[in-house]
Amino acid sequence: MTTYETMPFHLETERLILRPWAESDAAEFCALLSERGKGTPTVEHIRTSIAELLTATATTGIALLPIQRRDEGDFIGYCGLITGRSTLEEPEIAYELFQRAHGRGYATEAARAVLDAAIATGRKRLWSTVGAWNTPSLHVLEKLGFERDHVSTEDNGEVVWLTRSLP
Ligand SMILES: CC(C)(COP(=O)(O)OP(=O)(O)OC[C@H]1O[C@@H](n2cnc3c(N)ncnc32)[C@H](O)[C@@H]1OP(=O)(O)O)[C@@H](O)C(=O)NCCC(=O)NCCS
Repeated sequence: MTTYETMPFHLETERLILRPWAESDAAEFCALLSERGKGTPTVEHIRTSIAELLTATATTGIALLPIQRRDEGDFIGYCGLITGRSTLEEPEIAYELFQRAHGRGYATEAARAVLDAAIATGRKRLWSTVGAWNTPSLHVLEKLGFERDHVSTEDNGEVVWLTRSLP
């Protein structure tokens, strides 16, 4: 198996900072997940999830990272790499932002930085799996040079698999 460099965990863009999870992110992370409309996890549950994310990162060398706006200093969501439906060799890019932060190009800006971080690990390909209904997310990926590969069908609908080769 090929080994890859650990992904950089501090990324900066013009408007955003991506950095490792802190326990103090729990309340905001909880509020973000509540926006999915499937109930509100307890802060205790989220603290456990954060600890699990950090443990997973210690073994995999890839991470989801909280996104903070530079000027406002607020947590607006996360972006990063996960194994997801793919593999550690060719991981998936993933992101989720608070509704109040949508439509300002933040996901694209954060995902570009994560793409560069993936290149820095030495990886050659990334994937993303997106609900066929999710036009905003498909737009973000297209802006980043991802191309549609195939579609799979899951219990809750069609999933588009997009991929991008890395230089
Ligand atoms: C997907 C998501 C991260 C996008 O965040 P964002 O910061 O608003 O994204 P950006 O502003 O960088 O880009 C969104 C693009 O989609 C476009 N878009 C948004 N809503 C759209 C719609 N209903 N129809 C068509 N295009 C749309 C925007 O115009 C923009 O494209 P443009 O730059 O060409 O104008 C955000 O919607 C989100 O968090 N959704 C919930 C979680 C989620 O779906 N995560 C992805 C799972 S795969």
